[in-house]
Amino acid sequence: MNTDDRLNDLATQISVCVRCDLHKSRIKAVPGEGPSNARIMFIGEGPGFYENQQGRPFVGAAGKFLDELLQNASVSREQVFITNVVKCRPPGNRDPQEEELQACDFYLEAQIETIKPSIIVTLGRFSMAKFFGNVKISQIHGQAKTVNGRLIVAMFHPAAALHQPALKNTIIEDFKKLPQYLQNVPDKAGKEEINIKIEEKKADSSGKGTQLPLF
Ligand code: URA
Repeated sequence: MNTDDRLNDLATQISVCVRCDLHKSRIKAVPGEGPSNARIMFIGEGPGFYENQQGRPFVGAAGKFLDELLQNASVSREQVFITNVVKCRPPGNRDPQEEELQACDFYLEAQIETIKPSIIVTLGRFSMAKFFGNVKISQIHGQAKTVNGRLIVAMFHPAAALHQPALKNTIIEDFKKLPQYLQNVPDKAGKEEINIKIEEKKADSSGKGTQLPLF
């Protein structure tokens, strides 16, 4: 299965997922969107009211601001993958619960493994906690840490900046660092690993020249 098919397959699984109770109140699951060759993946918290209606991530007020942040940083929304730690709306926009995060992590991990983004940007405390553990966003926002050749950058959630205008400039400046970060990371995190696997496959005794997806 190539990376497009794998992403589509995951989206189909997510749309009918019943791994946690959030499916009971969802209108549409929100798997995420963006190209399978995206070099940057943004991970937010969970769908809100409009996302639940449309099945697309970040289409409400926070999404409009995210669009602005991307534009300011000269990063096109069409080139990045945007998703959330939970794919179905927590009722009333409450925080996702531990069992919901755990149930949905399977899909997030599969998306990361498929896309192999060079940079993951966490938006908000739940995605930040997945990669940074128990830290304070005020201390690490805009900074990157490298994990297996991939940069993980924690940013304030765009909705937080909408509620606290003092944060607006901070988040704008943090986003502006993205092009520079992109210049300093490999094309695709984990690419070398894939090349090695391909070579091993070619060298095996079958001699059938297996066609494998290139990233
Ligand atoms: N906030 C999020 O964290 N994700 C969305 O998709 C929309 C708003």
